[in-house]
Amino acid sequence: MLQPPLQVLISAATIQQRVAQLGATLTAHYQASEALLLVGLLRGSFMFMADLCRHIALPHEIDFIMTASYGQQTQSCGQVQLLKDLESEVAGKDLLIIEDIVDSGRTLSKVHALLQQRSPKSLAICALLDKPSRRVVEVDVQWCGFTIPDHFVAGYGLDYAQQCRHLDFIGTLTPDIGTHKLGIDE
Ligand code: IMP
Ligand code: MG
Repeated sequence: MLQPPLQVLISAATIQQRVAQLGATLTAHYQASEALLLVGLLRGSFMFMADLCRHIALPHEIDFIMTASYGQQTQSCGQVQLLKDLESEVAGKDLLIIEDIVDSGRTLSKVHALLQQRSPKSLAICALLDKPSRRVVEVDVQWCGFTIPDHFVAGYGLDYAQQCRHLDFIGTLTPDIGTHKLGIDE
């Protein structure tokens, strides 16, 4: 499949600036942590995770979970299935879940509940993007890169039918929202 035409919604430079800010915030927040574990949700978070962890100036571990909620379409099927679990011990660690985008909230709600059962010292969520207008299940997202409107986006780890993940910017398939102001939560 050819890459679909995308209109830039968030440029590579804007993403990098925000990721550096988030990294500094997280470094300050977890300063006293004795065991920090970043848990990336495959596959969408891989690029965000790779950039973000290099801005967290503290010793930490990296691990991944994989769930499935979208197939080849742009609509969630409503079910979240665990495809790959963590390898790491969780008990007593400060866990930070790293997600690409919060849409319905189903994925994060399921992953959060799963990890909470394993007695982490703390459990928090950092998502690059948030589409609050699409929320079906409430989730507490402590850190968010950008709040975006209800449009399907791709790039910087996020896919459209498994394409576009390698792009260094985030684009939209719908061409009419280029001027939308991005919300940045501090
Ligand atoms: P949920 O609906 O919050 O469970 O979102 C599940 C997953 O759907 C996210 O982790 C993303 O991987 C994917 N997703 C949601 N919205 C988009 C989008 O606009 N573009 C690409 N992937 C998306
Ligand atoms: Mg995802």
